[in-house]
Amino acid sequence: MRTARSGLPEPVGVVPTMGYLHEGHAALIRRARDQCASVIVTLFVNPRQFGPNEDFARYPRDFARDRALCESLGVDLLYAPSVDEVYPPGFATSVDVSGLSEQWEGAHRPGHFRGVATVVAKLLIGTRADRAYFGEKDYQQLQVVKRLVLDLEIPTAIVPCPTVREADGLALSSRNAYLTPDDRPRATALHRGLMAARSALAGGERDARRLADSISQTVVSAGLTLDYAAVVDPTTLAPLDRVDRPARALVAARLGRVRLIDNLELA
Ligand code: PAJ
Repeated sequence: MRTARSGLPEPVGVVPTMGYLHEGHAALIRRARDQCASVIVTLFVNPRQFGPNEDFARYPRDFARDRALCESLGVDLLYAPSVDEVYPPGFATSVDVSGLSEQWEGAHRPGHFRGVATVVAKLLIGTRADRAYFGEKDYQQLQVVKRLVLDLEIPTAIVPCPTVREADGLALSSRNAYLTPDDRPRATALHRGLMAARSALAGGERDARRLADSISQTVVSAGLTLDYAAVVDPTTLAPLDRVDRPARALVAARLGRVRLIDNLELA
Protein backbone atom coordinates (compact mmCIF):
# COMPACT_ATOMS: atom_id res chain seq x y z
CA MET A 1 0.00 0.00 0.00
CA ARG A 2 2.87 2.40 0.74
CA THR A 3 3.89 2.18 -2.88
CA ALA A 4 0.36 2.57 -4.28
CA ARG A 5 1.06 6.10 -5.38
CA SER A 6 4.60 5.84 -6.64
CA GLY A 7 4.92 6.93 -10.22
CA LEU A 8 1.39 8.31 -10.53
CA PRO A 9 1.16 11.89 -11.85
CA GLU A 10 -0.26 14.38 -9.32
CA PRO A 11 -2.78 15.44 -8.19
CA VAL A 12 -3.97 11.96 -7.25
CA GLY A 13 -7.67 11.32 -6.58
CA VAL A 14 -8.97 8.29 -4.71
CA VAL A 15 -12.48 6.82 -4.75
CA PRO A 16 -12.95 4.34 -1.87
CA THR A 17 -15.60 1.68 -2.59
CA MET A 18 -16.81 -1.75 -1.54
CA GLY A 19 -17.33 -2.73 -5.18
CA TYR A 20 -20.41 -3.97 -7.04
CA LEU A 21 -20.07 -0.63 -8.76
CA HIS A 22 -23.05 1.30 -10.11
CA GLU A 23 -23.70 4.73 -11.64
CA GLY A 24 -23.32 6.39 -8.21
CA HIS A 25 -19.75 5.09 -7.95
CA ALA A 26 -19.19 5.93 -11.63
CA ALA A 27 -20.18 9.56 -10.97
CA LEU A 28 -17.51 9.78 -8.23
CA ILE A 29 -14.92 8.23 -10.53
CA ARG A 30 -15.81 10.62 -13.39
CA ARG A 31 -15.53 13.59 -11.04
CA ALA A 32 -12.11 12.36 -9.91
CA ARG A 33 -11.09 11.80 -13.55
CA ASP A 34 -12.09 15.41 -14.38
CA GLN A 35 -10.22 16.94 -11.44
CA CYS A 36 -7.11 14.77 -11.02
CA ALA A 37 -4.11 13.66 -13.10
CA SER A 38 -4.39 10.12 -11.67
CA VAL A 39 -7.32 8.18 -10.27
CA ILE A 40 -7.14 5.32 -7.79
CA VAL A 41 -10.26 3.26 -7.03
CA THR A 42 -10.10 1.10 -3.91
CA LEU A 43 -12.34 -1.96 -3.74
CA PHE A 44 -12.53 -3.60 -0.34
CA VAL A 45 -15.57 -5.13 1.38
CA ASN A 46 -14.50 -4.06 4.84
CA PRO A 47 -15.49 -6.71 7.42
CA ARG A 48 -14.99 -4.27 10.32
CA GLN A 49 -17.88 -2.03 9.29
CA PHE A 50 -20.43 -4.89 9.25
CA GLY A 51 -22.19 -5.99 12.44
CA PRO A 52 -22.29 -9.69 13.38
CA ASN A 53 -25.85 -10.04 12.01
CA GLU A 54 -25.26 -7.95 8.92
CA ASP A 55 -24.68 -8.90 5.30
CA PHE A 56 -20.86 -9.16 5.05
CA ALA A 57 -20.93 -12.73 3.74
CA ARG A 58 -23.64 -12.11 1.16
CA TYR A 59 -22.61 -8.55 0.18
CA PRO A 60 -22.78 -8.55 -3.65
CA ARG A 61 -19.45 -8.99 -5.41
CA ASP A 62 -18.48 -8.97 -9.11
CA PHE A 63 -14.81 -8.21 -9.51
CA ALA A 64 -14.61 -8.82 -13.27
CA ARG A 65 -17.44 -6.38 -13.97
CA ASP A 66 -15.99 -3.78 -11.54
CA ARG A 67 -12.57 -4.01 -13.18
CA ALA A 68 -14.07 -3.60 -16.66
CA LEU A 69 -16.03 -0.52 -15.52
CA CYS A 70 -12.90 1.01 -13.95
CA GLU A 71 -10.97 0.41 -17.16
CA SER A 72 -13.71 2.00 -19.25
CA LEU A 73 -13.70 5.08 -16.98
CA GLY A 74 -9.92 5.52 -17.29
CA VAL A 75 -8.99 4.53 -13.73
CA ASP A 76 -5.18 4.33 -13.36
CA LEU A 77 -5.01 1.96 -10.40
CA LEU A 78 -7.60 -0.43 -8.99
CA TYR A 79 -6.49 -1.42 -5.49
CA ALA A 80 -8.40 -4.49 -4.26
CA PRO A 81 -6.55 -5.81 -1.20
CA SER A 82 -7.36 -8.95 0.77
CA VAL A 83 -8.62 -8.74 4.35
CA ASP A 84 -5.19 -9.89 5.61
CA GLU A 85 -3.44 -7.19 3.66
CA VAL A 86 -5.55 -4.45 5.25
CA TYR A 87 -5.69 -6.09 8.69
CA PRO A 88 -2.57 -8.25 9.06
CA PRO A 89 -2.24 -10.44 12.15
CA GLY A 90 -1.63 -8.20 15.16
CA PHE A 91 -3.51 -5.22 13.70
CA ALA A 92 -4.70 -3.39 16.82
CA THR A 93 -5.61 0.18 15.93
CA SER A 94 -9.04 1.63 15.40
CA VAL A 95 -10.25 5.15 14.74
CA ASP A 96 -13.25 6.45 16.64
CA VAL A 97 -14.91 9.68 15.63
CA SER A 98 -16.93 10.12 18.79
CA GLY A 99 -20.24 12.00 18.94
CA LEU A 100 -20.87 12.05 15.21
CA SER A 101 -20.59 8.25 15.00
CA GLU A 102 -23.01 7.35 17.76
CA GLN A 103 -26.24 8.84 16.48
CA TRP A 104 -28.55 7.79 13.59
CA GLU A 105 -26.76 5.05 11.60
CA GLY A 106 -24.35 4.52 14.50
CA ALA A 107 -27.20 3.89 16.94
CA HIS A 108 -28.63 1.20 14.65
CA ARG A 109 -25.25 -0.22 13.59
CA PRO A 110 -22.95 -0.17 16.64
CA GLY A 111 -19.29 -0.13 15.63
CA HIS A 112 -20.10 0.63 11.98
CA PHE A 113 -18.40 4.03 11.83
CA ARG A 114 -15.38 2.76 13.78
CA GLY A 115 -14.89 0.27 10.95
CA VAL A 116 -15.46 2.94 8.30
CA ALA A 117 -13.15 5.51 9.95
CA THR A 118 -10.39 2.95 10.48
CA VAL A 119 -10.36 1.74 6.89
CA VAL A 120 -10.77 5.22 5.38
CA ALA A 121 -7.88 6.54 7.50
CA LYS A 122 -5.74 3.62 6.28
CA LEU A 123 -6.72 4.14 2.64
CA LEU A 124 -6.13 7.91 2.67
CA ILE A 125 -2.78 7.60 4.43
CA GLY A 126 -1.77 4.62 2.27
CA THR A 127 -2.62 6.21 -1.07
CA ARG A 128 -1.45 9.68 0.02
CA ALA A 129 -4.19 10.99 -2.27
CA ASP A 130 -4.60 14.73 -2.75
CA ARG A 131 -8.39 14.36 -3.05
CA ALA A 132 -10.89 11.72 -1.99
CA TYR A 133 -14.40 11.48 -3.41
CA PHE A 134 -17.38 10.51 -1.24
CA GLY A 135 -21.11 10.38 -2.03
CA GLU A 136 -23.72 12.43 -0.19
CA LYS A 137 -25.83 9.25 -0.35
CA ASP A 138 -24.03 8.20 2.85
CA TYR A 139 -24.36 11.61 4.41
CA GLN A 140 -23.36 10.69 7.97
CA GLN A 141 -20.34 8.78 6.65
CA LEU A 142 -19.31 11.91 4.75
CA GLN A 143 -19.45 14.01 7.94
CA VAL A 144 -17.50 11.35 9.88
CA VAL A 145 -14.81 11.31 7.17
CA LYS A 146 -14.57 15.11 7.08
CA ARG A 147 -14.11 15.20 10.87
CA LEU A 148 -11.53 12.40 10.72
CA VAL A 149 -9.25 14.16 8.19
CA LEU A 150 -9.56 17.42 10.12
CA ASP A 151 -8.71 15.86 13.49
CA LEU A 152 -5.85 13.66 12.23
CA GLU A 153 -4.57 16.36 9.83
CA ILE A 154 -4.64 13.95 6.91
CA PRO A 155 -3.69 16.15 3.93
CA THR A 156 -6.46 14.89 1.63
CA ALA A 157 -9.28 17.18 0.47
CA ILE A 158 -12.67 15.50 0.86
CA VAL A 159 -14.87 16.13 -2.18
CA PRO A 160 -18.61 15.50 -1.62
CA CYS A 161 -20.58 14.32 -4.66
CA PRO A 162 -24.38 14.49 -5.13
CA THR A 163 -26.55 11.37 -4.81
CA VAL A 164 -27.28 9.59 -8.08
CA ARG A 165 -30.86 8.28 -8.29
CA GLU A 166 -33.02 6.04 -10.44
CA ALA A 167 -35.67 7.84 -12.53
CA ASP A 168 -38.25 7.21 -9.77
CA GLY A 169 -36.05 8.76 -7.07
CA LEU A 170 -34.58 5.64 -5.44
CA ALA A 171 -30.94 6.37 -4.52
CA LEU A 172 -28.60 3.90 -6.24
CA SER A 173 -27.01 1.42 -3.84
CA SER A 174 -25.22 -1.90 -4.22
CA ARG A 175 -27.78 -3.27 -1.73
CA ASN A 176 -30.68 -2.45 -4.09
CA ALA A 177 -29.74 -5.75 -5.74
CA TYR A 178 -31.41 -7.46 -2.75
CA LEU A 179 -34.83 -5.87 -3.43
CA THR A 180 -37.49 -8.27 -4.67
CA PRO A 181 -39.55 -7.17 -7.71
CA ASP A 182 -42.54 -6.76 -5.34
CA ASP A 183 -40.61 -4.53 -2.93
CA ARG A 184 -38.79 -2.44 -5.52
CA PRO A 185 -41.66 0.08 -6.15
CA ARG A 186 -42.12 0.60 -2.39
CA ALA A 187 -38.44 1.47 -1.95
CA THR A 188 -39.16 4.91 -3.42
CA ALA A 189 -40.97 5.82 -0.16
CA LEU A 190 -37.78 7.24 1.38
CA HIS A 191 -37.26 9.72 -1.43
CA ARG A 192 -40.98 10.53 -1.56
CA GLY A 193 -40.93 11.23 2.19
CA LEU A 194 -37.92 13.52 1.86
CA MET A 195 -39.59 15.39 -1.01
CA ALA A 196 -42.79 15.70 1.07
CA ALA A 197 -40.74 17.34 3.84
CA ARG A 198 -39.15 19.68 1.33
CA SER A 199 -42.57 20.75 -0.01
CA ALA A 200 -43.96 21.16 3.52
CA LEU A 201 -41.02 23.47 4.29
CA ALA A 202 -41.67 25.41 1.08
CA GLY A 203 -45.31 25.67 2.21
CA GLY A 204 -44.17 27.38 5.44
CA GLU A 205 -43.82 24.48 7.91
CA ARG A 206 -40.69 25.25 9.98
CA ASP A 207 -41.20 22.83 12.87
CA ALA A 208 -38.49 20.19 12.48
CA ARG A 209 -40.48 17.50 14.34
CA ARG A 210 -43.47 17.93 12.04
CA LEU A 211 -41.23 17.85 8.97
CA ALA A 212 -39.62 14.62 10.23
CA ASP A 213 -43.10 13.22 10.90
CA SER A 214 -44.10 13.83 7.29
CA ILE A 215 -41.15 11.64 6.23
CA SER A 216 -42.02 8.90 8.75
CA GLN A 217 -45.66 8.82 7.64
CA THR A 218 -44.78 8.40 3.97
CA VAL A 219 -42.33 5.61 4.77
CA VAL A 220 -44.56 3.75 7.22
CA SER A 221 -47.66 3.99 5.04
CA ALA A 222 -45.71 2.32 2.19
CA GLY A 223 -45.24 -0.67 4.51
CA LEU A 224 -41.58 -0.12 5.46
CA THR A 225 -40.24 -0.39 9.01
CA LEU A 226 -38.82 2.98 10.02
CA ASP A 227 -35.46 3.13 11.83
CA TYR A 228 -35.37 6.94 12.03
CA ALA A 229 -36.40 10.11 10.27
CA ALA A 230 -34.84 13.36 11.42
CA VAL A 231 -34.16 16.96 10.48
CA VAL A 232 -30.65 17.85 11.58
CA ASP A 233 -27.82 20.35 11.47
CA PRO A 234 -25.85 19.51 8.28
CA THR A 235 -22.46 19.32 10.06
CA THR A 236 -23.05 18.12 13.64
CA LEU A 237 -26.15 16.07 12.71
CA ALA A 238 -27.81 17.29 15.93
CA PRO A 239 -31.61 17.40 15.65
CA LEU A 240 -33.09 20.86 15.01
CA ASP A 241 -36.19 22.37 16.60
CA ARG A 242 -36.94 24.84 13.83
CA VAL A 243 -35.69 25.05 10.28
CA ASP A 244 -34.52 28.64 10.25
CA ARG A 245 -30.98 27.79 9.12
CA PRO A 246 -29.27 25.10 6.97
CA ALA A 247 -30.87 21.70 7.54
CA ARG A 248 -30.58 18.13 6.25
CA ALA A 249 -33.28 15.48 6.43
CA LEU A 250 -32.10 11.91 7.14
CA VAL A 251 -34.11 8.71 6.85
CA ALA A 252 -33.47 4.98 7.28
CA ALA A 253 -35.96 2.12 6.96
CA ARG A 254 -36.15 -1.60 6.39
CA LEU A 255 -38.01 -3.36 3.61
CA GLY A 256 -37.92 -7.10 4.18
CA ARG A 257 -34.27 -7.94 4.79
CA VAL A 258 -33.03 -4.82 2.99
CA ARG A 259 -31.99 -1.70 4.89
CA LEU A 260 -32.31 1.55 2.94
CA ILE A 261 -30.97 5.02 3.80
CA ASP A 262 -31.41 8.38 2.12
CA ASN A 263 -31.13 12.09 2.86
CA LEU A 264 -31.87 15.47 1.31
CA GLU A 265 -30.79 19.07 1.77
CA LEU A 266 -33.83 20.94 3.07
CA ALA A 267 -32.52 24.47 3.55
P1 PAJ B 1 -19.82 1.93 -0.98
O1 PAJ B 1 -21.17 1.71 -0.40
O2 PAJ B 1 -19.33 1.03 -2.06
O3 PAJ B 1 -19.80 3.41 -1.53
C1 PAJ B 1 -18.61 3.96 -2.05
C2 PAJ B 1 -18.84 5.45 -2.29
O4 PAJ B 1 -19.87 5.61 -3.26
C3 PAJ B 1 -19.31 6.19 -1.02
O5 PAJ B 1 -18.65 7.45 -0.94
C4 PAJ B 1 -20.79 6.33 -1.26
O6 PAJ B 1 -21.37 7.43 -0.58
C5 PAJ B 1 -20.83 6.53 -2.77
N1 PAJ B 1 -22.16 6.22 -3.29
C6 PAJ B 1 -22.88 5.09 -3.10
N2 PAJ B 1 -24.10 5.21 -3.70
C7 PAJ B 1 -24.13 6.44 -4.27
C8 PAJ B 1 -25.11 7.17 -5.02
N3 PAJ B 1 -26.30 6.65 -5.30
N4 PAJ B 1 -24.81 8.41 -5.43
C9 PAJ B 1 -23.59 8.95 -5.14
N5 PAJ B 1 -22.63 8.33 -4.44
C10 PAJ B 1 -22.89 7.09 -4.01
O7 PAJ B 1 -19.43 3.72 1.37
C11 PAJ B 1 -18.72 2.72 1.28
O8 PAJ B 1 -18.70 1.90 0.17
C12 PAJ B 1 -17.76 2.29 2.38
O9 PAJ B 1 -18.28 2.64 3.63
C13 PAJ B 1 -16.33 2.89 2.22
C14 PAJ B 1 -16.33 4.42 2.27
C15 PAJ B 1 -15.70 2.41 0.91
C16 PAJ B 1 -15.43 2.38 3.39
O10 PAJ B 1 -15.39 1.00 3.43
